[in-house]
Amino acid sequence: MDGKREIDQGTSNRRKLFVKSYGCQMNVYDASRMADVLAPEGFDETSEIEDADLIILNTCHIRERASEKIFSELGKVRVLKEERAAQGRETMIAVAGCVAQAEGAEIIRRQPAVDVVVGPQSYHRLPDLLSEAREKRAFGRRPGVVDTDFPVEDKFDALTQPTAEKTRARGVSAFVTVQEGCDKFCTFCVVPYTRGAEFSRPVDRILSEVERLTAHGVREITLLGQNVNAWHGIGPDGKAWTLGRLLRRLSDVPGVARLRYMTSHPRDMDDELIAAHGDLPQLMPFLHLPVQAGSDRILEAMNRRHTAQDYIDLVWRIRSVRPDIALSSDFIVGFPGETEAEFQATLDLIEEVGFASTFSFKYSSRPGTPAAEMDGHIPHEVMAERLGRLQTLVEAQRQAFNQETVGVTTEMLVEKPGRYSGQIGGKTPWLQAVHADGDVSLIGQVVPVRIVGLSSNSLLGELLDKPLQERRA
Ligand code: SAH
Ligand code: SF4
Ligand code: F3S
Repeated sequence: MDGKREIDQGTSNRRKLFVKSYGCQMNVYDASRMADVLAPEGFDETSEIEDADLIILNTCHIRERASEKIFSELGKVRVLKEERAAQGRETMIAVAGCVAQAEGAEIIRRQPAVDVVVGPQSYHRLPDLLSEAREKRAFGRRPGVVDTDFPVEDKFDALTQPTAEKTRARGVSAFVTVQEGCDKFCTFCVVPYTRGAEFSRPVDRILSEVERLTAHGVREITLLGQNVNAWHGIGPDGKAWTLGRLLRRLSDVPGVARLRYMTSHPRDMDDELIAAHGDLPQLMPFLHLPVQAGSDRILEAMNRRHTAQDYIDLVWRIRSVRPDIALSSDFIVGFPGETEAEFQATLDLIEEVGFASTFSFKYSSRPGTPAAEMDGHIPHEVMAERLGRLQTLVEAQRQAFNQETVGVTTEMLVEKPGRYSGQIGGKTPWLQAVHADGDVSLIGQVVPVRIVGLSSNSLLGELLDKPLQERRA
């Protein structure tokens, strides 16, 4: 293909790629993988959109505001494309991610400056799609190429691995997608439609990705999936493995200092996974376990398939093996038909459980989902008022949690230089940002630290000389 040859310009004429990701961590992971696929095609990443020869918007469709934002963003990108064209510089625009999957060709109809629309299961084909799009423009055909297939081949197998240098540059904490898609069909949610059916990556591929990352300096691995704890596979022992078993195996990989996973569904927290929280020192005591609401009627209407009490019982089972575990959740306020008393049940659940951090949203009606067709949509002012009350409560809990950490001796994974010279930044086991005086040569190490103070967004720590003896219980 001619277009293909034009893109393959070798190292002498490298081009610049700008990727902007919206939405969840899975999109962050996908953005890196897109950069990896495009590196052999001559693209280097830039953080300056004006310099980019290729702009990829990696989009999120979860709420109306998220997906509408993309079209205003595309308007700005079109202006940039025209300005660069006036200087004789070509700019290609690709829309990836969940809006791409949901809207497909409609994106090009609304914004003809877009060259490629590629869904989350097809981005390994980006080089070919870009070639095709260039060819179409060159021959004066109607521009734009769309690929929103759910291909049968394993996308991950087709992806290029990043170089050692690139892995190092991305830092000591890395995401690894182990599971994609969702079969849960919560009635408010677009993910089962944008990401497709649940799929688990095989054990050997996950292992080799983790081994490669740790060989290049990564110390913390966060396993990702829309429903990460629904992950399952066949282990090298020929037995059926679930996430708890996988975490156990990954904790044996040399160099893995910390393991995390997200996002989990309460229904998929099995005994083995809970036990792993008690047994594996590498498995960090922080769990994002969205509950969404505290009223059983609303939970049922959402098709979450558990009650508020099931969730509370589950939390206590996890706390019984790991008493210091910090919990985090997502909440939706104003689901269709939600009464004040039902909203109050959400506040009651929050009071009872106690969360270290949370994400909370006003319900957003998504076309094609069952909830969009339900009666009793709640006025925006009511949702805003409920959200305000909920956020006041969870913010107080977050601050109380951080406050409790002051005076505690713990460990920090040093991730980067701090805000000032002579300072380093990292995370506590409970995923709190922490800054301390220390040398950047400590980056990548887990060091003992005493938490001595709080600022608005991070903790202040003092490094200790001796290895850690005590653990907060
Ligand atoms: N798989 C995860 C969530 C993925 S979406 C889970 O099962 O919990 C991330 C969060 O966005 C959800 O937890 C939910 O709180 C929120 N969300 C999803 N659809 C939404 C909608 N239609 N309106 C408002 N918030 C929504
Ligand atoms: Fe969406 Fe529910 Fe699946 Fe989470 S479990 S991705 S909220 S459908
Ligand atoms: Fe958004 Fe898609 Fe993630 S809709 S939250 S980017 S799975």
